[in-house]
Amino acid sequence: MSLFRRKPIVQLQAEAASSSLHRVLGPVNLTALGIGAIIGAGIFVLTGQAAAKYAGPAIVYSFILAGIACAFAGLCYAEFSAMIPMAGSAYTYGYATLGELFAWIIGWDLILEYLFAASTVAVGWSGYVVSLLRDFGIEIPARWASAPYTHTASPDAGWNVWRIFTEGWTSTGAVLNVPAMVIVGLATILLVIGIRESTRFNNVIVAIKMTVILAFIAFGVLYVNADHWVPFIPPAEGDGRFGWGGVVRGAGVIFFAYIGFDAVSTAAQEVKNPQRDMPIGILGSLAICTVLYIAVALVLTGIVDFHALDVPDPIAVGIDAAGPGLAWLRPIVKIGAVAGLSSVILVMLLGQPRILFTMARDGLLPPIFGNVHPRYRTPWVASLLTGGVAMGFAGLLPIGLLGELVSIGTLLAFAIVCGGVLVLRYTDPEIRRPFRAPFVPFVPIAGVLSCGYLMVGLPVDTWARLLVWMALGLAIYFGYGRRHSRLNAGRADVASR
Ligand code: ALA
Repeated sequence: MSLFRRKPIVQLQAEAASSSLHRVLGPVNLTALGIGAIIGAGIFVLTGQAAAKYAGPAIVYSFILAGIACAFAGLCYAEFSAMIPMAGSAYTYGYATLGELFAWIIGWDLILEYLFAASTVAVGWSGYVVSLLRDFGIEIPARWASAPYTHTASPDAGWNVWRIFTEGWTSTGAVLNVPAMVIVGLATILLVIGIRESTRFNNVIVAIKMTVILAFIAFGVLYVNADHWVPFIPPAEGDGRFGWGGVVRGAGVIFFAYIGFDAVSTAAQEVKNPQRDMPIGILGSLAICTVLYIAVALVLTGIVDFHALDVPDPIAVGIDAAGPGLAWLRPIVKIGAVAGLSSVILVMLLGQPRILFTMARDGLLPPIFGNVHPRYRTPWVASLLTGGVAMGFAGLLPIGLLGELVSIGTLLAFAIVCGGVLVLRYTDPEIRRPFRAPFVPFVPIAGVLSCGYLMVGLPVDTWARLLVWMALGLAIYFGYGRRHSRLNAGRADVASR
């Protein structure tokens, strides 16, 4: 039964208390980290497409629905991260509640979220930067600014894994997405240099993107034409297009916009007072972004007919539709988008190595990933490795393929974390919980169900990729992690941090 051995919470709490990482962060930095990770490609790119194709102005309801699902998960993350403030985040929570095999599965799954999200958003960043530079008369050749292949899923491949992986590739004539690789490289260097430096940079970027979004809401609202909101829920056309079905489908798409609040929990070992500040960072950033998203969606669908929004830069299209009075905001929005996407990349690349670091410290990955830099006090080897792999993906793979894996990976992690909170309330009711999710068991159960529901709505080929990824992970666990786990007899004493 060693597959289900659990790491004792008291041991985890002792490890968290003796962290070798640098404890410098407070509630403001943490909330900014959350906002840094959350506001990005979702609002600047996907909102328009989801409104045009699925929900119309009722994309506002889609944002509310996805926000509610995230709130359940956010409350569960807040409970865990205050109780077990470890850099391993959901991986460690899994270790404490469901056992080693589940912990490994979540840790491996989180790579889909953080590493793949960093690469996905880097590809989006590249698109925005190329267009911004073009406005200034600087042309980056397309050959060097996009992936060499695009991918369209074969509609009739079903569960045929071979076909899913080999079919649907078309050469684009491009060589490499160099800007996407450059931003990943720069973020990686910053993260190796220090957590304080990284969060300072993040704070500046977050201030820029919040200002831009608030400006769009404040000035855009003056140009709203309420006729665009009628009917607010366009009549259903079947197949998830419009009507309530479209609202739910839209929620599945813009769920991506909320991903990232959980990344705050990977900074737990670098926080001065994690018991108090983790819930503030996670729930504060989620609440702020939810309100902003709803306001942006309302203004955007109010200033332009939603049919016009099926474009990669919907906010710019909204501004154009408002007329010359708002033209000054156009370049500013582009700068806000570039800033916004930069901080998402940064925080995702901050989360991934901290999970690898914790897994290595537990013996499930080779010890090299657990190295802390003697001067910078960052998990530098794991950071460099994450950055290197993310650069490769960002340079070579198309955005759609990367993005769909991010949502399914994140939803799975959220569902397991919600389940874990419930399990621990029954198995270890007496443990001190500095923050308690309210309305248990309703909140965790609703979290599992809502995340599961959004997962069911994702395409078969995404599920097949998830299962292949998991099979690969299990092979590594049984080939390496299980035998090297520090929980093996006589090794528990080595797990010091
Ligand atoms: N929530 C992040 C974004 O929208 C991943 O870019």
